[in-house]
Amino acid sequence: MITLGIETSCDETAASICDSGKILSNVVSSQLIHSKFGGVVPEVASREHERLLNLIIEKAVKDSKIDIKDINIIAVTNGPGLSGALLTGISFAKGLGVGLGIPVIPINHLEAHIFSNFLADPLLLYPFVCLLVSGGHTQLWYIKSFENYHLLGETRDDAAGEAFDKGARIFGLSYPGGPEIEKFAKGGNPNAHFFPRSLLGKDSLEFSFSGLKTSLLYFMDNFKESKLIKKRDIIASYQQAIVDTLVEKVSRAIFKTKVNTCVIAGGVAANKCLREKLKDNIKEVKLIYPNITYCNDNAAMIAYLGEKKSKRLNNYLSFSAIPNLKLK
Ligand code: KG4
Ligand code: ZN
Repeated sequence: MITLGIETSCDETAASICDSGKILSNVVSSQLIHSKFGGVVPEVASREHERLLNLIIEKAVKDSKIDIKDINIIAVTNGPGLSGALLTGISFAKGLGVGLGIPVIPINHLEAHIFSNFLADPLLLYPFVCLLVSGGHTQLWYIKSFENYHLLGETRDDAAGEAFDKGARIFGLSYPGGPEIEKFAKGGNPNAHFFPRSLLGKDSLEFSFSGLKTSLLYFMDNFKESKLIKKRDIIASYQQAIVDTLVEKVSRAIFKTKVNTCVIAGGVAANKCLREKLKDNIKEVKLIYPNITYCNDNAAMIAYLGEKKSKRLNNYLSFSAIPNLKLK
């Protein structure tokens, strides 16, 4: 079974070939054009996808050393994401599917992020808890079995990725903010300043990051670098506040569900400070992290999940983009 995965939900144009659970190629083009605007411009993202899709898919097919006619199904992200960006990928997928005479199936981007952990550990066993932390989502999931998921908690306001991106903007760093904050926090003192951790009550599994961002905004208004406290220390302290909050909520979710395994997914899961703190604090369960290349948006996770979904395939081309698609 050979699956072509296509991902265009935001600012990554990506294609991948998966053959029976094995990723043969994984091509991602990150649209750097958005960094000069300090965030993703939806219209620009759609146009870039349109410009790049053919090239990226051709490269994914070439890298995998298969013939395009060997592809059995196409899996494409249909949400959540930017409407125009999703539509470019879906239209391309449908056109190619009709041309090749093969089915095209819609994939939920969030579900695919969770399943990127099976690429890290094909023997991953259900049930497990997943911390899903991306630019638009911060959620804790109880994954009971395939297509049987229960939402334990999510953010009431900003996502963790947004906290990184907005924080980076306040620090004068570029977009996307997560990798920039991680880079500039290196060598800084994470205890130099205490930013609030919004834990929302003893047992809460919900998140809130908007207060943290406001507190940084006020702090930076009066901040001047000195010999005692450098900007790097403040960046490290800000990153620590996000990471501490995430780790505390993961601990609570593990305690509540009594699972033996915990995984993380989404762009923020690439953060090394988060990975280290989870490792140091969570000893009672097996922790699994996807490879960094599978944390950020990619099509390998789309192709992999598409292959799993194809076994229950019952519709063909009868789907569209759903920008606010939920995972249930
Ligand atoms: O999953 P993703 O690539 O796209 C969405 O589905 O949203 O996540 C993007 C988010 C951005 O907010 C970005 O700043 C954040 O993930 N991110 C990171 C790191 N790499 C990406 N945040 C913290 N540390 C990183 N190393
Ligand atoms: Zn994503």
